[in-house]
Parts: sequence; structure tokens; C-alpha cells
Amino acid sequence: MNVSDSERISTTLARDGFEMTADEMAADVVIINTCSVREKAEHKLYSRVGRLRKKAAKNMPVVGVMGCVAQLEGETLFEKIEGVNFVLGTRAVGRVSAAINETFQTGKNILDVGEREDNYDWTVADTHRHSPYVAFLPIIEGCNKFCTYCIVPFSRGRERSFEAAEVIRQVCDLKEKGVREVHLIGQNVNSYKPQTDSGLAGFTGKSAFSRLLRAVAATGIERIKFTTSFPRDFNSDIVETIEEYENLCNWVHLPIQSGSNRVLAAMKRGHTIEKYFEKIDRLRSSSREIALTTDIIVGFPGETEADFQDSVRMVEYCGFDMAYIFKYSPRPGTPAFEMADDVSEAEKTLRFLELENVQKRIQNNRLQRYLNKVLKVLVESRSSRTHNGLTGHSTCHKVVNFEGPEQLLGKIVDVKINEIKANSLFGKLN
Ligand code: 5AD
Ligand code: SF4
Repeated sequence: MNVSDSERISTTLARDGFEMTADEMAADVVIINTCSVREKAEHKLYSRVGRLRKKAAKNMPVVGVMGCVAQLEGETLFEKIEGVNFVLGTRAVGRVSAAINETFQTGKNILDVGEREDNYDWTVADTHRHSPYVAFLPIIEGCNKFCTYCIVPFSRGRERSFEAAEVIRQVCDLKEKGVREVHLIGQNVNSYKPQTDSGLAGFTGKSAFSRLLRAVAATGIERIKFTTSFPRDFNSDIVETIEEYENLCNWVHLPIQSGSNRVLAAMKRGHTIEKYFEKIDRLRSSSREIALTTDIIVGFPGETEADFQDSVRMVEYCGFDMAYIFKYSPRPGTPAFEMADDVSEAEKTLRFLELENVQKRIQNNRLQRYLNKVLKVLVESRSSRTHNGLTGHSTCHKVVNFEGPEQLLGKIVDVKINEIKANSLFGKLN
């Protein structure tokens, strides 16, 4: 979501006549796009501006803070961090140029944590996408789930879905421009609920999301990925849709957060471990070979050693292709912030390392299934590893490295996998 936000910030700035530079010392304006899901990210902002202040000395550029930290901290950032000139929240991206101009004109600090304009343009210019071949397309913003540890419902606000007709129009447009893979993104894509049926008529499905998947698949764009899914809203009709359309990719990111029902309840996740396993079983029994990834938190308030061991067993059962493991960090303003953060930092680290080790072992075993298999890879960029190395993603969202000529950039090629590394696969053009 943050990459997508940054792409839209730079699109807006370019449209309004600003020029980008990669050299922050040559810039008149430096914008820091922030995330506050975990504490570390917030600290990064403080040290980032500090470093800039030191480097720039007397020639300090105008500094703007955007994203979640800006939304949550608001004007306190002006006091907390010396050198910040404007603070724009998660829904103020469309007003970034105005904020810069006003800063230059008035010299005053500008704060905007207001709502999005009704006619906000979500388009990202071709030149501002992180890849010419892959595009992120938000289909829903915000979140209504209020998991007790999570800041997102506060930083991104309530759920708002985009009209399917508009999503489809954008997919067709991207396809025409040479984009081969779209990622439909949102905090919880499965709870997609547009206000009208426009664009969905004629597409069946048990949820608006599965109908949207069918409608997007019918555009004929080559690859469609979607993230993030939420276990309670992830129903078998989504798997059925994937089975029906080859261009819906075989990868699902389904955060579980914990293997203990007690902890899941305290997190207010709204699902049990048994229900999650049922969904995994359905994915595993699919006719498509679907890769599964997840997020897990260790050291949530009140997590005992027994709860943690439930997480270890859960990881062993699920056999994730990849798991992002986080140490719980209290976020002010969330319900869990009121609970005693009673797992010590040292214990959190121990649990993190133990779970990471188990996941590494399981992951290595799971990934062996790709050995000697031929995967379809979208060639996205040159890899710095070898002199004519190329890199891209498979339909199952693995990073795949191989050697080949530069002319293959943007093409989808067959790569036979001959080596499995911790977080990527290596192979040869087939
Ligand atoms: N502490 C640790 N991890 C968190 N996440 C969200 N909030 C917190 C928190 N307070 C993790 C969850 C989520 C991922 C994006 O970040 O695992 O799925
Ligand atoms: Fe946060 Fe839960 Fe919403 Fe995910 S579903 S963004 S973890 S509140």
C-alpha cells in the first residue's frame, strides 16, 4: 500500500510541474512517506529527518511527512521533529502540490489530515510505477476490522471500496499500456463492497470480491494477484474463482497472526485456528498449486509459552511458502495498548528466533516442490547478482533469478528451477 501511495504522490507532483531527483541534497523538497504499523518504522522517520538536517546544514530543503505517521501524529510532528514543514495524512495525497506551494509562499507549517476529495484521481502515471510491467491497483481503502493490536483502522480510516467499473476500466487501460500483471490491493480485499453493481453485472460469485475477480479476469490481462486477504472473509468461492481463471495467480497471502485460539480471541481476529485450517485444507486440495504466505505476531500481551508453542505447531501444520514474523509492538490508540505488554523484549526475541527457525526449515522443505519444475516468470528487471542476470516473479509470487538477454524484459518466460534459496529460486531459461 505504501509503494502504491508513493507512486501516486510522485504522479501528482509530476502532473503539477515538479521534477523528481534521486539526490536529496539537490532537492528543494524532500517528502518522507511513512508507515506506522510497527514501532520501528516510526523511529526511522525521526532519524531520517535528523540525518537530513545534519547533512544539509544551512541548506535545509522543505521537508514533508506523509502517510500513516503523519495521519496519526498530526501537528505534534512539528514539535517532535525540527525541520518538518508540512504534514499530510493518508487521504491528503491529492493536495500535496498545494501544500508545497503554500509552504514556499507563507513559510508557515502546513497540516492536512482531512478526507479524500470526492473526485480524487487514483491513476498512477506510467513513468511513476515501480515497474513498467506490474501495477498496484487499490480496490478498497481503510479497514473496519479493528484487530486489537492494529493501527490501520485509525491511520487509514473506514473501509471504502472503489466501483468495479472504474477498477475494470483501469485494468483495461493498464493492459493497453503494456502492463502484464496487476495487484488488486487493500488492507482486506475480501470485504470489497462497492456501492453499486456497475461493472459486476453478469459476473457470478458468493461475494462482491469473487465477482470482481471474475470481472477483472475477463479483461484478459495476463496476471492478476491480490493482497491482503482476511481469514474470516476468505471463502471457498475465492478458491473456486482461482480454479476457473488461469490468469488469477496461484498465490494467497492470508495472515493468521497466532496459532492460539486464546490469543486470536484477544486480538479480536474473529476466527479460530480450526476455521483457518479448514481454509488451508481447501487451498491445498485445489487443482491449482496455490502458494500460501502469512503474517504472524509473537509476544502479544498475555501470550504464554503454551500459546507460543501453538504458533509453532500451526506453522508446522500450514507449511507456508513464506511467513512475515513480527514482534508485537504496542501502538498508542489501539485497544491492545491498554493491555499489559507483559512478554519481555528478550522473550519476544527468543520466540521470534525460534519461530523463524521452524519456518525456515518448513519453508525449505516446502519450496523443494519447485525443484526441476518449470515456472512462468515475468521478467521485471536485471539482477545485480550476475552479469547477464535477470529477475522476476512467478505466478506463485516467488522471486526467480536466471540468466538471459535484456530483450526478455517485460516478457513472460519459462524457467526451469534448479536451486532453492531461502527467499528466492534460481533456474535456467527453458
Ligand atoms: N505489532 C506487531 N506487528 C503488527 N502488525 C500489525 N500491527 C502490529 C503490531 N502492533 C503486523 C501484522 C500485520 C502486518 C502488516 O503487521 O502481522 O498483518
Ligand atoms: Fe489491521 Fe486487522 Fe484491519 Fe489487517 S484486518 S489492517 S490487521 S485491523
